[in-house]
Amino acid sequence: MTAAREAPVSEWVTIPDMYRDPFPIFQRMRAEAAVHWVPSVNRYMVVTYDECHTAEMDGETFSADETGSLMKRSMGHSMLRKDDPEHAPERAAWQPPLRPGAIKTVWREVFEANTERYLDRLADAGDAADLIWDFAAPLAAENLRSILGFVNATQEDLQRWSQTMIDATGNYADDPVVWEKGRRSSEEVDRAIDELLPYYAAHPDASLISGLVNMPGGERLPIEAIRANLKMTIGGGLNEPRDVIGTAAWALLENPDQLGRVLQDPALWPVAFDEAIRWIAPIGMYPRETTRDVELGGVRLPAGSRLGIVVLSANRDERVFEYAERFDIAREKKPHLAFGGGAHYCAGAWVAKSSVAQVALPRLFERFEGLEIDGDRETSAGGWVFRGMLKLPVTWQRERKGAAA
Ligand code: HEM
Repeated sequence: MTAAREAPVSEWVTIPDMYRDPFPIFQRMRAEAAVHWVPSVNRYMVVTYDECHTAEMDGETFSADETGSLMKRSMGHSMLRKDDPEHAPERAAWQPPLRPGAIKTVWREVFEANTERYLDRLADAGDAADLIWDFAAPLAAENLRSILGFVNATQEDLQRWSQTMIDATGNYADDPVVWEKGRRSSEEVDRAIDELLPYYAAHPDASLISGLVNMPGGERLPIEAIRANLKMTIGGGLNEPRDVIGTAAWALLENPDQLGRVLQDPALWPVAFDEAIRWIAPIGMYPRETTRDVELGGVRLPAGSRLGIVVLSANRDERVFEYAERFDIAREKKPHLAFGGGAHYCAGAWVAKSSVAQVALPRLFERFEGLEIDGDRETSAGGWVFRGMLKLPVTWQRERKGAAA
């Protein structure tokens, strides 16, 4: 066994470069070491598959409860920043409406209706149609609004809340305008929740907030936990389905042979979904903090080290995935890390799979025959903590309204 060494100090890694195109940077980092100290982000970055997996499976050593967390400041202390045993009861309260049974009996139908509505909007946008802003973003927001039960808010409210609170969570520059926008959204969410608690006590339904109000045995989570976890879910349950719709559509439109195979065999939609989040993980990095001195990937980490678990890089680790940079629905099936792992494994994974792989993507390609990227307008992607398409202009040859779902 080789002796552990200090982490390489990677001053050449900058935030603007990672925002533009993180993949060549991560490739070089993986070749040099599993763990780097990166001054521009003021934390260690864990970039290889095995080491990301080790960290997410060992919550005792790699705590989610980060000191000085900006997420806690902007949204309150949610389950995402708690370790077990404190994390477990909040996670258990969140689970029932997000399970496959509830999706089958309640939400699938809602996802279908919402999808038709925003396909109409995409059609109406005509020559100016953008797949992200006319379809993926409002659809993801509307689906989340339905599941959570925000009957007193619009999908536009959810998009604004989500973006401003996420911006505050990443406000390392301490910009007062960003804090102010985040604070305003946080207060709007609190007011909306205050209205909904008595409403759902009188009108129970299948939504998450209703479930929180009417928990078995009459127990309730403390109000701070309800608020913080709803804000975290608004921040964490909207961009990712939006971004996987964009990434998967882009990848398939750029690879017509693979699109052809999926259209021939709709059982391949979940495979395309899974490969899209393997290829570009919508949540690129999430934080952890060491609770003791530890060695990870041959690198010494003192207790209290702040880490970034870079699943966007781990999912492209060439030691695990052959020709990892390529989008390929025929690749050998192996577990990827896009939904995280261990105690914090994404609570909304079934919702994402159903709403995107079973409904949004198949219906999009059924409805718009000859869908393609509009080469006369700019297509762009961005991000590394969250990564997705920024612009995806599309055109089509023929619309088949009302085709069977
Ligand atoms: C493709 C879509 C999605 C991806 C890639 C994704 C990814 C993730 C990841 C990586 C985590 C763990 C983060 C960490 O450990 O710090 C997580 C947690 C979580 N996700 Fe998702 N997510 C998606 C969709 C959703 C949706 C639609 C919802 C809600 C309806 C949701 C709700 C949650 C919740 C509540 C947690 C916290 C779980 C816990 O702390 O125990 N996610 N997600």
